[in-house]
Amino acid sequence: MFYISILLQLLLSAAVASVSVSYNPKSICVLERSSVDFKCTFDYPYYSTLETTKWFKPEAHQKQDGTQVGISVYHSNTAEIHQLYKNRTAYANQDRNCSLQLHNVSKNDNGMYFFRFEYSNRGKYTGQGGIHLSVAVLPFRVTVKTQKENGHIHEGDSVTLTCGTENCTPKQKLFAWFKNQRLIPEATDIEFSISSVSHHDFGNYSCALKNSSSTSADEILLDVKYSPKNVEIAVLTSGKIQEGNSLTLICMSNANPLVTNYSWFLIKEANVSHIGFHREFFIKSASQKDDGQYFCIAKNDMGSQNSTVIALNVEVTIHQNFLLIATAVFLILMAVVMFGLIIRRIQITLKKQPTEQTPAATATEEIYENLRKSSESEGNFTKCVIYADLSLPPSTSDRPRCISQEGDTVIIYSLLSYKE
Ligand SMILES: *[C@@H]1O[C@H](CO)[C@@H](O)[C@H](O)[C@H]1NC(C)=O
Ligand SMILES: *[C@@H]1O[C@H](CO)[C@@H](O)[C@H](O)[C@H]1NC(C)=O
Ligand SMILES: *[C@@H]1O[C@H](CO)[C@@H](O)[C@H](O)[C@H]1NC(C)=O
Ligand SMILES: *[C@@H]1O[C@H](CO)[C@@H](O)[C@H](O)[C@H]1NC(C)=O
Ligand SMILES: *[C@@H]1O[C@H](CO)[C@@H](O)[C@H](O)[C@H]1NC(C)=O
Ligand SMILES: *[C@@H]1O[C@H](CO)[C@@H](O)[C@H](O)[C@H]1NC(C)=O
Ligand SMILES: *[C@@H]1O[C@H](CO)[C@@H](O)[C@H](O)[C@H]1NC(C)=O
Ligand SMILES: *[C@@H]1O[C@H](CO)[C@@H](O)[C@H](O)[C@H]1NC(C)=O
Repeated sequence: MFYISILLQLLLSAAVASVSVSYNPKSICVLERSSVDFKCTFDYPYYSTLETTKWFKPEAHQKQDGTQVGISVYHSNTAEIHQLYKNRTAYANQDRNCSLQLHNVSKNDNGMYFFRFEYSNRGKYTGQGGIHLSVAVLPFRVTVKTQKENGHIHEGDSVTLTCGTENCTPKQKLFAWFKNQRLIPEATDIEFSISSVSHHDFGNYSCALKNSSSTSADEILLDVKYSPKNVEIAVLTSGKIQEGNSLTLICMSNANPLVTNYSWFLIKEANVSHIGFHREFFIKSASQKDDGQYFCIAKNDMGSQNSTVIALNVEVTIHQNFLLIATAVFLILMAVVMFGLIIRRIQITLKKQPTEQTPAATATEEIYENLRKSSESEGNFTKCVIYADLSLPPSTSDRPRCISQEGDTVIIYSLLSYKE
């Protein structure tokens, strides 16, 4: 009897020891709409027969340790399967293989999953621990980790960007990383690490699953703080750098945060003088006094940098008043010359007119004064006939006459040809 009882105990312990369930892995993160594999193996006494197998999920208000059986995700009796999981599962249904595939997961599937089986002689067993499923709800978001907690990111710091969702980060996927919307080809992991950030790394980053644009994350700014870089002077001028023109010197730089203090310096004959403290240095009217070498210093909380030195050489120009006077004199001279030319032209025209108007000049008038017929003049009169052909200007009034004083009768012939 004693031996029998020992044998029974041994058999019982062997039977208990052979009942088991093992899950691997015990925690899974999966993207929504994708499928998940609950990998599972179990054991039961070889002399027993399996009656039911099921996967269950405790409901939200229930204990999550497997002591309370919730809804059936899978059941060997399909009628028992909960509406939410109908047609979404594939059970391995092989000896001692309890693996289950769940398709098209959504955030409602978050939670604990347990495998339970019943076998002959009222044997029941639930695999302890269960599997914890987290469903990654898109979109992704980028989180930034640095060695400093809640501190600014400075040049030289090491930074890790992680692509994940609120719930979890799905593993073993290919990722794509973008900086300012441009793909970073070498970054394909869920994490993107920069061992020593520089100001070149400043920018907006986002991530996505490879070959899937719909899952991309919102951009996150990698706000690398750095002292001013590339400080240089830009010269703005209305024309040439010459006397009288206005000039604006601008201290250009690249800094994060923005430059807070500017300083302008003028080097003249080895003397350095501080001449300004704004971003722009304005010269209203350039003169040779402004000749010299200029540089600026840009400063923010991170540090400062000196610009390159530029040499300003103001071109001397003829004085403007002189130009005005010269122009005036020239104009007057021109006027005088023009006037002279016009006068001369008029004179020439006047001289030319008689020859030009010959028909008018031919109008000849005969003036007879005390003219008598020769037949009537008989006797011993001495006749004195004088012909005079005169060409006189019309204004001339005293006409020369030939007066014969021999005799009483004076005959004057005067042939006048004048212009009307
Ligand atoms: C499951 O699939 C079967 C046939 O494939 C179909 O008749 C049934 O309506 C589906 N059930 C659900 C809940 O989709
Ligand atoms: C269990 O079944 C699943 C699905 O059929 C299979 O992928 C897996 O390899 C099986 N596991 C073992 C240990 O046989
Ligand atoms: C997956 O589930 C969602 C609801 O969670 C549903 O709208 C969608 O149609 C399902 N997709 C497939 C392929 O069954
Ligand atoms: C980053 O994104 C913000 C907001 O969209 C935008 O204002 C900013 O200009 C971006 N920065 C760069 C460097 O592209
Ligand atoms: C992604 O797309 C590229 C070409 O566009 C293709 O070569 C590659 O196989 C795709 N990868 C996946 C995982 O679909
Ligand atoms: C920068 O400018 C602020 C105000 O303009 C001034 O109070 C501060 O002293 C300046 N810092 C340096 C280092 O010049
Ligand atoms: C430069 O400084 C020296 C000594 O401080 C002074 O004697 C000289 O006049 C200065 N030159 C100019 C151009 O300001
Ligand atoms: C920048 O300019 C300041 C003021 O002249 C000078 O003291 C300093 O040495 C300069 N720094 C460099 C790096 O040239």
